[in-house]
Amino acid sequence: MVTSEELIQYLKSSEGRNLKGLAHLKTVYRPVICPFDQILELIPPDKKVFDLGCGSGSLLSLINQFSKPKQLGGIEVSQNLVDNARQLLSASKVPVSINFYDGLTIPDEIADYEVVTLIDVFHHIPKPIQVSFFEQLYRKMTKGSILIFKDIDGSSPLVYVNKLHDLLLASEIGNEWSAEKASAMLRNCGFECSAITYRRMLVYPHYTILARK
Ligand SMILES: C[S@@+](CC[C@H](N)C(=O)[O-])C[C@H]1O[C@@H](n2cnc3c(N)ncnc32)[C@H](O)[C@@H]1O
Repeated sequence: MVTSEELIQYLKSSEGRNLKGLAHLKTVYRPVICPFDQILELIPPDKKVFDLGCGSGSLLSLINQFSKPKQLGGIEVSQNLVDNARQLLSASKVPVSINFYDGLTIPDEIADYEVVTLIDVFHHIPKPIQVSFFEQLYRKMTKGSILIFKDIDGSSPLVYVNKLHDLLLASEIGNEWSAEKASAMLRNCGFECSAITYRRMLVYPHYTILARK
């Protein structure tokens, strides 16, 4: 398994080096607090991979380098982050499509992808639409495709660290769920879920669920 340190080294040497200030720090050092190393292990080679809520493109860039994808796609609610992600992936040898979207309507093109990643996005989705968002995602993903769902563990006391983090960096307080509640919701939507993985990185409590439509 590639280590977090190796992932940081790669991001430092990639187009990420040209991002400035906080964007640079959040993009290049994201593997310090987010288990990208484990997430990459779940992505088979030669797949079309779509990152929903791709931020500045850290994960897409790492998938491009380490997972031998066939094609990459991403969407984001911030045009600024879309621009960063496009810059990060500008030297990609495989087709890449990264677009702005309204945070509500998942594009139909997601059906073209075999792997969908949703990493630390769920708790940012407004509470009243969190479940309907997943119902929509299930409808739009293609049968047999996999969803890699990673979020902050709402059942851990450390969730309050993440709430403070989001308040300081995103001016909002997230709605984190426990892994069991999220897994039950995914199954209710129709996904088949395999085992849940837990991991704490520094003060951030994570869980990852591998699901299949
Ligand atoms: C903690 S960041 C994670 C970014 C990226 N997935 C990663 O792991 O590096 C959360 C991201 O979710 C995005 N976001 C917020 N609301 C969203 C929504 N309704 N749909 C998709 N993305 C959203 C934010 O703009 C932000 O980029």
